[in-house]
Amino acid sequence: MGNARAVAQLYVSAFGFSVTGYSGPETGRPERVSYVLEQGAIRLVVTAALDPADAVWDHVRLHGDGVRGLSFAVDDADAAFNAAVAHGATPVQSPAADTDERGKVVHAAVAGYGDTLHVFTERRHPGFAPGFSADGLIADRRAPRVGLEHIDHVVGNVGEGDLDRWVEFYRDVFGFEEMTHFDRDQISTEYSALRSTVMTNGRGVTMPINEPAPGRKRSQIQEYLDAYRGPGVQHVALHTPDIVTAVDAMTARGVRCLTPPPSYYDQARQRMAGLGDELAWEDLARLGIMVDREGDGYLLQVFTEPLGDRPTLFVEIIERHGAEGFGEGNFKALFEAIEREQGRRGNL
Ligand code: FE2
Repeated sequence: MGNARAVAQLYVSAFGFSVTGYSGPETGRPERVSYVLEQGAIRLVVTAALDPADAVWDHVRLHGDGVRGLSFAVDDADAAFNAAVAHGATPVQSPAADTDERGKVVHAAVAGYGDTLHVFTERRHPGFAPGFSADGLIADRRAPRVGLEHIDHVVGNVGEGDLDRWVEFYRDVFGFEEMTHFDRDQISTEYSALRSTVMTNGRGVTMPINEPAPGRKRSQIQEYLDAYRGPGVQHVALHTPDIVTAVDAMTARGVRCLTPPPSYYDQARQRMAGLGDELAWEDLARLGIMVDREGDGYLLQVFTEPLGDRPTLFVEIIERHGAEGFGEGNFKALFEAIEREQGRRGNL
């Protein structure tokens, strides 16, 4: 982030996170500042560099605000790192321990898509990590509660022709399995097209990967790659048990979401016949929440506008009821909403 304090404040004021940790010059780390943000089981860390020699400095200069690293909790960071490298991962940071009187945290990192580090974190510490303080931290208790609970999935965008290589990476290096694949004829509009494969460890870590496909005009995935100047995280989906309350609160706090075309809800009610009678359809339409059915299950989802200055990283809010997909039935409606925004930016 260019300004970690301002971005942390955004996550607090707009999404209902609490800041639970801080490190920076005051805690003995002069080269960068970090804020730890928590809500439910979700933990985000926003960091800005103070020293041009810090790696975050170059990351922000090239990519703007975005996801620098994805952290995977492991029992043994040494073992995870060594196994990943033995299976073909590119090492970025060898295992290193931070220790204080309360415990230790061991981090190691390998290269993911683009400059997105994949970090193994072994935490044997009651707090976040040594060197983090909980003094004077910010939370907005006046605004309505949002109620986000856990990370549902994290989506990456990679270059055209690179999807299969990254599918192999998650299979060979991380031991993930392919959950679903969508080809361009399944996800395309007149303009945008993409191919997508969903990789999962089968225990709650789910990582869809997209690549752009040729269409009549520039794919939204290509717009991302151009703006981010390379592959990276496209969106992070956060699960809530009550999406109407969450999106109502987020909207009151100033978050703007993409809204499907008005005709969407007539079609959605037909698709949900016999299943969605108890849904608060007026609230869903008012808030732009989309619905997707899978047999006897369904999911509700909404996508924010990009969070920073570039059309790159955004957040999805999702509520699942026995559905394991990602809203494929909504892709077309969503694409059309994204393309309206893309057109306004002159990028179609
Ligand atoms: Fe998603």
